[in-house]
Amino acid sequence: MSRTAEKPGVYLNDRVVALEEARVSVLDHGFLYGDGVYETMRVYDGVVFMMEEHLARLERSASLIGLRLPKSARQMKLSIFETLEACGHRDAYLRVTVSRGEGPIGLDPALCPRPTFFIFADRLRHPSRGNYEEGVRLAIVNTRRNLREALDPQIKSLNFLNNILAGMEARKMGADEALMLNAGGQAAEGTISNFFFVKGGALCTPSAGCGILMGITRDVVLELARRLDIKVIEGEFGAAEIFEAQEVFITSTIREVVPVRLLEGGAAKNFSVGPVTKLLMSEYRKEVYSYVENTKAAGPSIWGFTE
Ligand code: PDD
Repeated sequence: MSRTAEKPGVYLNDRVVALEEARVSVLDHGFLYGDGVYETMRVYDGVVFMMEEHLARLERSASLIGLRLPKSARQMKLSIFETLEACGHRDAYLRVTVSRGEGPIGLDPALCPRPTFFIFADRLRHPSRGNYEEGVRLAIVNTRRNLREALDPQIKSLNFLNNILAGMEARKMGADEALMLNAGGQAAEGTISNFFFVKGGALCTPSAGCGILMGITRDVVLELARRLDIKVIEGEFGAAEIFEAQEVFITSTIREVVPVRLLEGGAAKNFSVGPVTKLLMSEYRKEVYSYVENTKAAGPSIWGFTE
C-alpha cells in the first residue's frame, strides 16, 4: 500500500483537508468547556456498520444539549463517504465530532454562531486476540457514573472526564476497563463500553434507568439474544449480585463483544469465556458480515449510499 493510501481521512466543517491543515480555534467551546457531542463508528470493508443508528444518536445527543447540527443526516453521510475515500483504509475507526464552535469566553452557547464539524477516519487498530480468547480484566471503581440529573450518560458528549477518571482508577488496579456504579450503587457501564453478565442462563444488563449510554452494540446484542431465545433481563444490579454471575462481558462499537476474565473491586472472581458469551460473539460477527454484504448489494457506491 502506498504512503498516501495510509493517510487518515480528515474532514473539517465543509471539506476534506490534510491532517496538518485541520486546525480548530483555541476559542472553540469544545476545547474550552467540553461543549459538544460525538460518535465513534466502525468501518468494515468500506461499510460503516449501523451508520443510521449512530447518526440518529448524534442527533439525539445534540438535541439534548440544545445544539443544532450544522448538517442534515444526508449531508453527514456524504461527508463521511468523502472522508473514507480520502482515508484509504477499508477497515477503519471513524469519529464524527460536533462542538459548539468558536466564540468569546463565556458559557452561553449563543456566543458561538457556528458549530465545528469534524470527521476523522483512520486505520482500525484491532484489539489483541487475547482480549477475545482469554478476556479482559474489569475493576469496579470508586468513581461513580455521572448522575442522570447532572449530565445524562445517554448524551455522548465531549465532556469525558467522568470516564477518564474511572479509567485511570481501573488501570491503577491493574485492570483493562472500569465498571462504574451509579450514585445508587448499581452497575452502570464501563468507561467506553456497556456491561453484561449471565446468571442462571439469563442475560442481564443495566437498564436505561441506571444511567448509561444506550450502546448501539448493546442493542444489537440484546436483539441477537432475543432471536436466540435467551432470556434477557434489563434491570438494576448491585455489586454482590454481579459476583454471582457465571459469565461477564462488555460491548462497544470498536471492540464488539469482549469477554471478561477477572472481575475485581471489593471481591474478585475469575471467569472463563462461557457458552453464552461465545455464542453472542460469533452471532455478532455474523450479523456484521450480513450487514456489510447487504449494504454492498443494496447500494450503487462501495459504501451502499442509495439516496
Ligand atoms: N464509546 N458506554 C460508554 C460510556 C461509551 O463511551 C461507549 C462507546 C459505550 C458503547 O456504545 P456503542 O456500542 O454504541 O459503541 C458505552 C465509543 C466506542 C467511544 O467512546 O469511542
